[in-house]
Amino acid sequence: ARVEPLKVMISGAPASGKGTQCQMIVEKYELVHISTGDILRAEVSSGTEIGKKAKGYMDNGMLVPDEIVTDMVITRLSLPDVKERGWLLDGFPRTFSQAQSLERVNIRPDIYIVLDVPDEILIDRCVGRRMDPVTGKIYHLKNFRPETDEISARLITRSDDTQEKVVSRLETYKRNAEAILSTYLALLKKIDGNRPKEVVFEEIDSLLQQFQIDVAKSKKLS
Ligand code: AP5
Repeated sequence: ARVEPLKVMISGAPASGKGTQCQMIVEKYELVHISTGDILRAEVSSGTEIGKKAKGYMDNGMLVPDEIVTDMVITRLSLPDVKERGWLLDGFPRTFSQAQSLERVNIRPDIYIVLDVPDEILIDRCVGRRMDPVTGKIYHLKNFRPETDEISARLITRSDDTQEKVVSRLETYKRNAEAILSTYLALLKKIDGNRPKEVVFEEIDSLLQQFQIDVAKSKKLS
């Protein structure tokens, strides 16, 4: 029998490494990566209605109102590629109400990953982060230097990556984290994100593999 595609949520404080791990997960598992931060940034840069509404919140490191983001995610999750390939939800749900909206339409992950990184390291990671607008790849001025001078010259800094805004994003994260966790407690896998990205990925990879093995076994038994 065909194994159902994976459904994964990845969570963690700003700069805990969600985007970085998602790039590695998607490369191996070919899940549909749905990053609310990436989708919103794309809406802002193309000047859509959603983008116009979201911009002020994002520039100030505040959450965009629940209804805007929730509609966006639920619509995206209903497209056929998601059914075919499975999904990797990154940056959603961010509030209890967002989690409850997913519960209401019966959308639950197989695994809820939380990347755990100490506060002082998060700040340094945000302030040093740069993005390649051409490939979407994430770099860091010290940790992950761009491969060529050409890439280096075109890197951009996110408007919400100043020290002050990172502190307020972190506070928002902490205020919401526990309430969201209560929804997914049984599916929680906490991972130490303060290790080299390849090591973090190895642990995520073996969790996902183990999950698939367990599902296959239980299908054989039934
Ligand atoms: P979003 O884009 O989701 O931002 P975030 O949660 O703050 O997360 P980041 O993208 O900052 O970090 P990350 O964990 O992906 O880390 P990364 O891999 O880049 O959201 C942005 C905004 O959009 C929000 O503030 C809000 O306004 C809005 N929004 C989004 N979702 C919303 C929602 N659901 N509801 C309402 N509003 C919403 O890594 C960070 C840096 O560290 C990089 O430089 C990287 O190279 C480096 N790094 C990564 N891993 C390692 C490692 N293992 N060791 C050393 N360095 C590392």
